[in-house]
Amino acid sequence: MKQVLVLGAHGKIAQLVTKNLLAHDIQQKLFLRNSARLQIEDPAKEWLIEGNATSLFDLQQAMTGSEIVYANLAGEIVEEARNVVAAMKAKGIKRLIWISTLGIYDEVPGNYGKWNHEQLDGGYLETYAEAASVIEDSGLDYTIIRPAWLDDQTEIAYELTYKGQAFKGTEVSRASIADLVTKIILDPELYLGESLGVNKPNTDGDKPAWYN
Ligand SMILES: NC(=O)c1ccc[n+]([C@@H]2O[C@H](COP(=O)([O-])OP(=O)(O)OC[C@H]3O[C@@H](n4cnc5c(N)ncnc54)[C@H](OP(=O)(O)O)[C@@H]3O)[C@@H](O)[C@H]2O)c1
Repeated sequence: MKQVLVLGAHGKIAQLVTKNLLAHDIQQKLFLRNSARLQIEDPAKEWLIEGNATSLFDLQQAMTGSEIVYANLAGEIVEEARNVVAAMKAKGIKRLIWISTLGIYDEVPGNYGKWNHEQLDGGYLETYAEAASVIEDSGLDYTIIRPAWLDDQTEIAYELTYKGQAFKGTEVSRASIADLVTKIILDPELYLGESLGVNKPNTDGDKPAWYN
């Protein structure tokens, strides 16, 4: 059975992906800080591994036996990116799905782009951009995912833009991002070497709807 390592498994999107994958023949290693927070639903398919993505040692230990790494991380994102790349290379794992954010290429046009900078500049956007370039320069088989502003609606509705294209829309559900990640884990040839903007169709505007 194919094995995926989920980094940041207590994250909101990650938990949706985990639930989706339970319906498939996939083994999941769930890597998180403070593992007491997560309950396993199917012990034949899921393991908890406590660890910190700022620790190369923890990551290398966790990667043994995995074919795919899905990183749903936050925080010290540049250090985490470097460690994930180094651990994957040390373990000979090629396939990485990396959750990033909109705006890392200054690809968000118009007033929304300006607003997004106002909200995210000053440490977040810059470090997420640097982390993404670590991934892009890694030589790994990566897919970077750049979600619009996230909400917790259950609706799955999304469209994609590619690196070099202007970002579309303002918002997207975590359930939509989880759907995309699940599809890639099930078919790892999808979106190889791509950096994908992901938005809900017809949500163009100056801000996500809940800010209006
Ligand atoms: N909010 C938005 O509108 C928006 C839009 C675009 C992109 N994003 C980005 O999308 C990503 C995923 O979103 P989400 O909603 O799933 O985020 P989330 O719930 O905050 O999940 C991120 C996870 O990263 C884990 N993490 C942070 N540092 C770690 C470390 N050193 N070692 C291990 N795990 C670590 C956190 O662990 P703990 O549970 O231990 O803290 C958390 O569970 C985030 O990077 C977020 O910034 C957000």
